[in-house]
Order: sequence, then structure tokens, then C-alpha cells
Amino acid sequence: MWRASVLTIFPEMFPGPLGFSLAGKALDAGVWSLDAVDIRAFATDRHRTVDDTPAGGGPGLVMKADVLARAIDAVANDARPRLLLSPRGVPLTQARVAALAAGSGVVAVCGRYEGIDERLIEARGLEEVSIGDYVLSGGEIAALALIDACVRLLPGVMGKEASGAEESFAEGLLEYPQYTRPAVFEGRPIPEVLTSGDHAKVKAWRRAEAERLTRERRPDLWAAYQKRHKS
Ligand code: 6GU
Repeated sequence: MWRASVLTIFPEMFPGPLGFSLAGKALDAGVWSLDAVDIRAFATDRHRTVDDTPAGGGPGLVMKADVLARAIDAVANDARPRLLLSPRGVPLTQARVAALAAGSGVVAVCGRYEGIDERLIEARGLEEVSIGDYVLSGGEIAALALIDACVRLLPGVMGKEASGAEESFAEGLLEYPQYTRPAVFEGRPIPEVLTSGDHAKVKAWRRAEAERLTRERRPDLWAAYQKRHKS
């Protein structure tokens, strides 16, 4: 079973959205497990303190190395990668998600406040991962996103519908536009080629649309795609 352990000061945020839809069904079916660990339970003082003022001064609070170390040591004595969700991390990619899904699970530490004592990151070998170039108020929503992306790739979680979008993205292109009935919506017909029954034409149209959208929206992906296809 693929195991996710999440260390957080807000354990009530889990499973949250992961309790619904495909991920929720797979969770109930025992395809994967989720263990939300309350970091605060590893504080030792009367006020259950998990953070303190930054050395050198400045605003905000820093999560304490000693408390987090006890939390990690209580749950992560195995080979799973130990990730720290942080906006300063290495950007998460579909390739990394696939690698994580192929392994035994993840330990995800959710940062809060201004950050985490750097010595904890070093001492417990945490790998910092970001889900994009914007700042969330904490790592919890990022952890939910990362786990969702992994779980949908586990064997038996998604049916055939997984493959289409995956193939497109793995090829480095955005997905082509989709349509379904009615044939005309508010005066807009479905593109004629899609109802022509000509499978080769449909395939060519979808490829062209995927390329157009990628060129328009993601010049970074488009440049890499062109490089690989030497056109
Ligand atoms: Cl992983 N954490 C936070 N707090 N903000 C983020 C993020 C992670 N990824 C992008 N923004």
C-alpha cells in the first residue's frame, strides 16, 4: 500500500478533498493510506509551542527544529522520501509525481509561519518542493495537491480516462479541446472534423490544437517540445 504521512499543525485539513472522488474511493478501498500527524503533539511545554522568534531578528515566527525532529522520527523511520512543502523548493513536475507514485509513498512536512529552522531540514534530509510560483499561507494545500497528483497514478485508481491527458502532458503539450452533446450550444457547433468519423483527421486536428494552445500559453513547454521534435 502506498503511504502518505503528513506532518502539520492543522491535521483536520486531511484528508479534506482527498476524501472525495477517485482519491477518496481508493483511500476507502485501501489502495493508499493517509496519516495526518499533529506536530503540536510533539511539543513538550505547557503551551505546546511549535514556533519561536527568528534568530537575528525580523518579522514572523520560525518552526522549532526540536519539535519537528521528534514528529519526523515518530513517523518516518522508513525509505520514503521526506518532502518539505515550501515556495522556495524545487518545482514539482509530472515526471517527479510519477516517480513518487511508483515508490512506497511520501512523508510530507507542511511548513507554516516564516519558515522552518534550517538545521532541521539538513538534519532530517528534507527535500524542499514547491507547487508553483506563488505563495500559499502554508504547505497543507500544496501537500494535498502533491498527494492527489500521485494517488491518481496508482494502479487501479483511474480507468482509461487517465491515459489521454497523461500522454498529452508527458509529450510536453497541453491537452486539446474537448466537446460533447449537444451538437450546437448557444449557436456554437462542435468542430465538424470531430463528427466526420475520419479518425486520422481527428488525430491530426487534436495534435494541431494541442500545439497551438501550447505555443500560445506555454512558450517554455513549446520551446522544449520544438527542440525535441527538431522542426
Ligand atoms: Cl509547497 N508551500 C507554500 N507555502 N507556498 C507555496 C508552495 C508550497 N508552492 C507554491 N507556493
